[in-house]
This record gives sequence, C-alpha cells and structure tokens, in this order.
Amino acid sequence: MKKTHEHWASSVGFIMATAGSAVGLGSLWLFPYVAGENGGGAFVLMYLLFTFLIGMPIFMAELIIGRRSQKSAVLAYSALTGESANWKILGWLNVLTSLIILSYYSVVSGWCLSYIFMSLNKFTAGKSSAQIQEIFTILSSSSGINIFWLALFLLINFGIIISGVRKGIEHWSKILMPFLFIFLIALFIHAVTMPGFSEAVKFVFYPDFNKLTSSGILSALGMALFTLSVGLGVLITYGSYMQKDQNIPYNGIVITIMTVFVSLIAALTIFPIVFTFNFPPSSGPGLVFKTLPVLFDKLPATILISAVFFSLLFFAALTSTISLLEVLVANFIENFNIDRLKAAIIASSLAFIIGIPSALTYSKALFPTWSEIYGKNFFDTMNYITSNWFMPIAAIFITILAGWTMKKEIVLEEFSIGTKSKWIVHPWFFFVKWIAPIAVIIVLLQETGIINFNR
Ligand code: PHE
Repeated sequence: MKKTHEHWASSVGFIMATAGSAVGLGSLWLFPYVAGENGGGAFVLMYLLFTFLIGMPIFMAELIIGRRSQKSAVLAYSALTGESANWKILGWLNVLTSLIILSYYSVVSGWCLSYIFMSLNKFTAGKSSAQIQEIFTILSSSSGINIFWLALFLLINFGIIISGVRKGIEHWSKILMPFLFIFLIALFIHAVTMPGFSEAVKFVFYPDFNKLTSSGILSALGMALFTLSVGLGVLITYGSYMQKDQNIPYNGIVITIMTVFVSLIAALTIFPIVFTFNFPPSSGPGLVFKTLPVLFDKLPATILISAVFFSLLFFAALTSTISLLEVLVANFIENFNIDRLKAAIIASSLAFIIGIPSALTYSKALFPTWSEIYGKNFFDTMNYITSNWFMPIAAIFITILAGWTMKKEIVLEEFSIGTKSKWIVHPWFFFVKWIAPIAVIIVLLQETGIINFNR
C-alpha cells in the first residue's frame, strides 16, 4: 500500500506548483480589498516589508524542513526534533489551519466558478452599474447555490489530488500558471489607459501612516504570510517533494517576487476601475466581483473578457487549494497509513462540511447571530483566526525550529546544497533566528494590547 515518496519531475514544475500555491485569491482578491479597507499606501508598504523580511526567510525555512525530513508537517517536525511529541502539536495546528482555509477559500473559488457561467450567460447585458453590483449580493446570499459551487469546486480539487504530485499537482500547475500571467498583464495594460490610473498609483504607493492602525499592521503581516502560503505546512509538504539539487534560496526569491508582483499588479488593475467609476475603495469582499464586471460590460467582447478573467481567478484559486488539500492528504497518508485515495476522500469531505457555515454566511441560514456575538461574520472569523493568529504563531515556531532547535550545520547544509551563492546563507540564518520571530512577536503583542506603540 505504501509507495515511495514522490518528487517533482523538474525545477520548473516545482516553481509553477509552489508559485501556484502562493499566487491566488490572496493576491488577486484579498490583497486589493484589504489594502482598500486599510487606507492603501502605508498598508502596502508594511505588506512589502513583512513579505521580504519575515515571509521570505520563513518560506525558505519551511522548504528546508520539508526537504530534510522528506515528510509533511506533523512527522517532519517530530523527525527533526528527535521524535518530540510536542512538536507534533504544531504539525496538527498546521493541518487544522489548512483545513479551515481550504473550507472558506473554496467558497470564494465557487463564486469564481459561478461568475464564469454567469459571464457566458451575459449576466451584465442591459443592466445598470448598480444592478450589476447587486448580483454579487444576491449570489453570496443564496444558500443552495453557494453549497453547490463549493461542492463542485472541492470535487475538482479531489480529481487533481488523487493523481498525485507529478501527474496531478505539477501537471496542472504548469498548464494553468502561464495563462494566469498572460491575462493579468493584458488586463493591467488596459487599466493603465483608464482615467483613474494615476489616482490608483497614488492610493497604492503613497503611504499615509495616519491611516494605519495596529490591526492594520497585523493584517499586513497576516497578508504577507497568507499570500506566500507560509505558516501552515504547505511549503514543508512541497519542500519534501523537492530534489536535492534544487536551489532553495533562488526559488524562494523568485517565487516571492512573483507573488508580490501579482499582488501589486492586481491592485493596480482594480483600483483604476474603482476610481474611474467612483466606487468606494473600501468595498470589502465584493470588490473584485462587483467592480470588474462593471468594467467588462463597457468593453467590447464582454463575454469573452469576463469569462476568461473569472476562469483565471478560478485557476489561481485552484492551484492554491490543491496545495492546501495536499497538506491534509499528505499528513493523513503518513500518520494514518492510508492510501492517497482514502486520504483525499476524507480530506475533501471534511473541507466540505467545515465549508458549509462559510457558504451560508451571507444568507445567514446558519448561525444567524454569529456577527452580533463575535463582531465578525463566520467567514471573516475563519479568515481572521487563521491568517492573523494561527499562521503567525506557527511561523514563530518554525523559526524556533530552524533557528534554534535544529543543528545549525544541518540547516545551513540543507540551505546551501543546490546553490552556488553560499554567502546568502548567513544573512538568511540571522533573519530566521532573530529578526523574523522578534518582529512577529512584537506585532502579535501590539495587537493584543500587551504593548502599545501608539501612545
Ligand atoms: N497563498 C494563497 C493565496 O494567496 C493562499 C494560500 C494560503 C494557499 C495558505 C495555501 C496556503 O491566495
């Protein structure tokens, strides 16, 4: 029943799969709207700093942990710490985080699927801009329809995951990722010509620190980790499929730059539309789903552009969710000694069940008083606890493992195996050992109010 551990067929395959995990709705949907809600420039700057100073070093640390141990999170942590049971808890936290993110992320991915079909049915034809925007409200609050798309989306993930690492994940990432880049650039070129472009550039790049709150800073950290897929074991699992001659620092830098590039391009494509049509930049989760269709309706070939755009959002989402599902599947296979098919059935079913309350959030068909009690709706609560708490906390422990617990020689050796630029190893290690954990701890303490820099 047990097969030998699979590996990526090529370096390009690894980059596409891992960039596929990183580049997703986080960059294309969440980043623009959260930046909009947090006032733009200063938030964007914090996001960039956190990505390069904290996210990227930990990204590389996770790959090292995976490649060294040849295991996924739970057993990777225990293998590298002399079979410590306590470290396994961190692995299970990673699994839980992946499950929760997969559940609500799939609901948004379901919206993308729905928008593809709506586009093909010319859903914007003859409607005013207010009516087009209203459709998002109607869709997001329709219980049955949300559940249907959630189930279908998870089924597609299931279909890919059961084919394994090379034939499933790598194969599909290599097909989907190039399309995503081409179409994003094409849309961006169009956005550059819009009257709202210069205002958008100012909004995204001009930092007004008065608009930045401590929870805005925490969100920027959460966003940096979320968009890089750091702090929940995805990169440990994907690292375990890496070949020894693959270059960890180089790949880490390339994928980080790709991710940041997509986030910024997404914001610079969406905000020109927002400003040109006078929408509020802080219009929340509906931003992409409400604003872009209004633009598409005004362009020639509406059906084509709209359907292709939402297909690309869907592709971006899919390459991210398969990485989340793979964390669950790989950990279930290793810990419960079951085969891939069984693990995939269990993992997808769990994601579906946990996804139901997220799918029903806007219709209030389940937990109608959740927002009154917890201050955020169910969907936002899941997003908040995972990306603002579980991921940063796991990130701290990953730095402790790579910077303090593991033998330094082993960490440095694994880091430098595939690279010629050996000088990079010491600055990287310093960031993992000191800068990243201290910065994350400060941000978390500030958010809890234990320390306060605003006084
Ligand atoms: N990085 C993905 C995105 O930006 C989301 C994700 C988070 C995927 C964590 C895997 C793990 O959309």
